[in-house]
Amino acid sequence: VRALRPEALEDARLPEALRDVGRRWSELHGVEVGLTVTGRARVLRPEIEVALLRTAQEALANVAKHAHATRVGMTLSYMEDLVTLDVRDDGVGFTGTAGSTNGGYGLTAMRQRIEGVAGTLEIESDERAGTAISACVPALAGKVGA
Ligand SMILES: Nc1ncnc2c1ncn2[C@@H]1O[C@H](COP(=O)(O)OP(=O)(O)OP(=O)(O)O)[C@@H](O)[C@H]1O
Ligand SMILES: [Mg+2]
Repeated sequence: VRALRPEALEDARLPEALRDVGRRWSELHGVEVGLTVTGRARVLRPEIEVALLRTAQEALANVAKHAHATRVGMTLSYMEDLVTLDVRDDGVGFTGTAGSTNGGYGLTAMRQRIEGVAGTLEIESDERAGTAISACVPALAGKVGA
């Protein structure tokens, strides 16, 4: 039966959810957020989709709070065995904010959440190039409609 399902029913929900999060954040902060989706978008295990969605929300919260960015981009890439989510901004970078805060729990929580679904989190930051947060998780399929 599953093989006979129309393609539309197998459309992944995560890209739509990320688009909504980006749209709301944009309206709130007046900064454009782009979303690029590459590869064959498909439904992943709910805990994996939730981990990626929370990562995007936390990363965007940090951009709003620290980055002074003028552009923000999210890229969701579906590969054979892995899915990656990048959130990059063109803001001041960590060096631009280092020492100005005590550092909260956002990044730690993000890393724990991603590692909790057997993924990895990488952070790249530069005062000229801004900040990029990259989450990489296994592309474990979820049930359509679940
Ligand atoms: N996009 C970013 N641009 C510049 N600096 C950042 C960015 N994201 C995080 N940082 C820096 O990394 C620090 C740690 O981020 P983290 O999210 O862990 O804590 P926080 O945002 O300060 O507090 P919390 O998330 O608990 O509200 C920040 O205080 C800030 O200095
Ligand atoms: Mg934070």
